[in-house]
Amino acid sequence: MTAQVIDGKKIAAEIKTEVARGVARLKEERGLTPGLAVVLVGEDPGSQIYVRNKENACAEVGIKSFKYVLPADTTQERLMDLVDELNCREDVHGLLVQMPLPKHLDPTPVLLAIDPNMDVDGFHPVNLGRVVVGNAVLPSCTPAGCIELIKRSGAGMEGANAVVVGRSNTVGKPVAMLLLSENCTVTIAHSKTRDLPDICRRADILVAAVGVDRMIKGDWIKDGATVIDVGMNRTDEGLFGDVDFEAASKRARAITPVPGGVGPMTVAMLMRNTLTAAEMTLQG
Ligand code: GUN
Repeated sequence: MTAQVIDGKKIAAEIKTEVARGVARLKEERGLTPGLAVVLVGEDPGSQIYVRNKENACAEVGIKSFKYVLPADTTQERLMDLVDELNCREDVHGLLVQMPLPKHLDPTPVLLAIDPNMDVDGFHPVNLGRVVVGNAVLPSCTPAGCIELIKRSGAGMEGANAVVVGRSNTVGKPVAMLLLSENCTVTIAHSKTRDLPDICRRADILVAAVGVDRMIKGDWIKDGATVIDVGMNRTDEGLFGDVDFEAASKRARAITPVPGGVGPMTVAMLMRNTLTAAEMTLQG
């Protein structure tokens, strides 16, 4: 049997359509246009592409975007001042600083300075904490995107064995907590985990977020599993995920491709978080 390929592009487009409807309703009924401020420091080409994608998505769904490009030699103080200023803007509801920052800048105080209710990346410890306590109002975008892909692929989550491979603060830990909130039985595996293949073989839902090219082999996949591959590994042979897609497809029920799986979901969830952040300002 060959697995259903979970079409992240299509699902991301559906989510953006839903967000566009919510944005239109907010404008009509409350006279409020959601606004997203994106801060980019320096000229990293990858970051420039990400930022452009975010601006384009905003235009698609009717969110107003504000881009701030600071020179690569910007001081920590100047960046912090800009964050403070944007935190107070009436027309900005979501605020993010594109990572990575140039080496002389410390990202931690920058993330801590963002108003948690405007932190549409979901990186602030307050929002990670909200995810842990099951009140995921602004969950980080990639983990939230993984959950949507699982749900919309038709997988049942209640009582399912979910294995997350990877324990980063940006993906592994939050996705594990979101799976727990969906009543999965969650195992977090990582580079020191013993018997990783056997642990993966027990997974009804497997989320791979390690950043190692095709590390997860086909015979690690349980028959009928749902496989979400967060990996984006650029190699001489091309772009690959953390899962050996060809081999895993023979056993899985459903699997995300790389590219075209989790990738497109991140920006869609950012749009959803920006709408939520705007709605939250009305709840006072
Ligand atoms: N750099 C790569 N991905 C992201 C992201 O989701 N948010 C921010 N702020 N920076 C990134």
